[in-house]
Amino acid sequence: TITLVRQIDELRRQVAAWKADGFRVGLVPTMGALHAGHTSLVSLALKKCDRVVVSVFVNPKQFNNRSDLANYPRSEDTDRELLGEVGAHLVYAPAPDEIYPEGFATSVIVEGPALPLEGAHRPGHFAGVATVVCKLFNQARPNIAVFGEKDFQQLAVIQRMVSDLDIPVEIVAAPTIREKDGLALSSRNQLLSPEDRKKAASLYKAMTNAVDAIEGGADFAGTLNRTQAVILEAGFDKIDYLAIVGADDLQPMDERDREGRLLAAATIGGVRLIDNIPVKKA
Ligand code: PAJ
Repeated sequence: TITLVRQIDELRRQVAAWKADGFRVGLVPTMGALHAGHTSLVSLALKKCDRVVVSVFVNPKQFNNRSDLANYPRSEDTDRELLGEVGAHLVYAPAPDEIYPEGFATSVIVEGPALPLEGAHRPGHFAGVATVVCKLFNQARPNIAVFGEKDFQQLAVIQRMVSDLDIPVEIVAAPTIREKDGLALSSRNQLLSPEDRKKAASLYKAMTNAVDAIEGGADFAGTLNRTQAVILEAGFDKIDYLAIVGADDLQPMDERDREGRLLAAATIGGVRLIDNIPVKKA
């Protein structure tokens, strides 16, 4: 059965032993409540590495409010079982005070790709993400780390941080895993009522239609306006943003002069969902 580790020094010892044996080590950071999106990251890490560590830590610093943190789904036992089944080698599930001991006072603040979109709507979120991911890299010292395109801006922020701070880890991007109806798998989907769950797929559908129109020559602003109306009409309560940005820098874009990305955040029945898809260069 899969090894469970809760302490930094024990994690360090195991990873060091693996490296001494010549193994390449991969890290997959998660907040648990694992689903097929997470396990696809583990499978990709297993293809590229000999040993795979999965961290499970619900990081309080990246939540904007207490209720979101309190409501975040947790399922440590089934997570561990699932990770054993897919072939991960070690689960690192530290307690909060192992990560943030008394007196903790440092924060990793990324600007650039962290500023727009999620950065504008969730103050402090990416500082919380960058801080914990930087710590996980220093604790596990993996050769590679896998992140999902589901959180496209997060992936860009981590790549920026690793490059800016000279962290010796290779970041690998994994494609978004979706339900049959197109809804991107997310731990938050289980918070949706059955009715809202059905309506939730309209976000991806509307985004796909928007990109089809834009790649067919439709103008950005008009298409995005119509798409917002479609998403609200389909039952979403609120759209935080629906925007096309450069795939590399996350900066605003209004023509297809480079690879782009359509990103959205919208709330349905009090559950905030995010998604993104590529917009091809003309
Ligand atoms: P979490 O939301 O648990 O996601 C962990 C990883 O799984 C992230 O890299 C995310 O992009 C990926 N993922 C989630 N849903 C996916 C899907 N449907 N398809 C493919 N990959 C998917 O993201 C976080 O946790 C945290 O911010 C973390 C990086 C662990 C820092 O606390």
